[in-house]
Amino acid sequence: MSAAAAAAESESESRAQSLDAADPGHRELFDIPPVDGGPYPDVAYFAGNSLGLRPKATRTELLEDLDSWAALGVEGHLDAARPWLPYHELLTGPASRLVGALPSETVVMNSLTVNLHLLMVSFYRPTPERFRIVIEDSAFPSDSYAVRSQARFHGFDPDDAVVRLRPREGEDCLRTADVVERLGSDVALVLLGGVNYLTGELMDIPAITVAGHAAGAVVGWDLAHAAGNVPLALHDWDVDFAAWCSYKYLNSGPGALAGAFVHERHLGDPSLQRFEGWWSTDAASRFEMAAVSRPPASVDAWQVSNPPIFSMSPVRTSLELFDKVGIGTLRERSIRLTAYLERLLAGVTPGRPLQVITPADPARRGAQLSLRIGGARTAGELAKVLRFEFGVIADAREPDVLRLAPVPLYSTYHDCWRAAQALAETVPENA
Ligand SMILES: Cc1ncc(COP(=O)(O)O)c(C=O)c1O
Repeated sequence: MSAAAAAAESESESRAQSLDAADPGHRELFDIPPVDGGPYPDVAYFAGNSLGLRPKATRTELLEDLDSWAALGVEGHLDAARPWLPYHELLTGPASRLVGALPSETVVMNSLTVNLHLLMVSFYRPTPERFRIVIEDSAFPSDSYAVRSQARFHGFDPDDAVVRLRPREGEDCLRTADVVERLGSDVALVLLGGVNYLTGELMDIPAITVAGHAAGAVVGWDLAHAAGNVPLALHDWDVDFAAWCSYKYLNSGPGALAGAFVHERHLGDPSLQRFEGWWSTDAASRFEMAAVSRPPASVDAWQVSNPPIFSMSPVRTSLELFDKVGIGTLRERSIRLTAYLERLLAGVTPGRPLQVITPADPARRGAQLSLRIGGARTAGELAKVLRFEFGVIADAREPDVLRLAPVPLYSTYHDCWRAAQALAETVPENA
């Protein structure tokens, strides 16, 4: 076989199918959206970094929880098959294992940006000399708005207080050394995305955390694109606080409840400010209806309201699945799958206005490859063609970034082949 024929064979559809047979993942546990028409029954889904797919068990288990309500009314607090009063505790163990934390450091509550605000109440305590917040220039807008509003709340000009880190000229991703260099005595808080939503860059969380602490700053992480995507060791890395959502890699449904982490070092510290409600008090005293709270020495003290059980149910189902499969095993398949997609794209991008901007080093990325696209179509227009003509669901960030996330739980090598094939067919080669 000639080298060209061997290369073509290695990129053939049958090769993708045999890789799936050898390295199958857990697709059978998920509902994969069907596609109308065309040769394949299901979509090739690459938007799990935006909204993960539904585990089949989610529907069954959510219905069980709903039926407890129908059968028991208020008595479900104690008598439901999964009693509502301690329901949130069912999520603590698997959530803490997923992010490398102690159970006392981990809680599932609220939404991501709400958690960032509650945590900043405690951990952004600016002074006239040390008041700056360091974020990425390409931070997700919610983070940018959140930190700007926090600076304003404390009486600072957000344009002055918020430092936006930009990649070097001609580069798409941040270099760790450049981040570290900016962490000076004016920085009160470093709040970066563990995996950048746009480029898919996995930051060096331990190194930046160490550097932030050496500079005298508090270091928090937005793990929206990291939780369920890459292994984390928040406790060992000495991260001060973190928050993440559960609707992306954690497959818990649109707007699903978020997670929060506070390092053990800070738990029970009476000097920390917190906003409180009746769920901030220790569980044993909650129904004493006392006027003054008795917060526990755990991150549960950051809870405010009683948890929404039917929103917790899908998060519990999903976390139990992660617990069973193991993030380490998933990461191994993720590295193989993403490398395969990368190899296929390398056969398509030369000569076309397509450029992968995610780091090539597997240690600096998770399950996402972002493509900068040129040519006449915007990313949104290209995503529409991929969806309606090829059944490939990608995520567009206008004007020019297309994000493809092969998710190790349910994506296939054949999905990757379909995506590369669709791009080759629809993006014209440069004249
Ligand atoms: C990195 C990041 N931060 C924050 C958010 C906003 O999260 P929420 O609307 O759940 O607060 C998102 C949403 O996609 C995100 O990707």
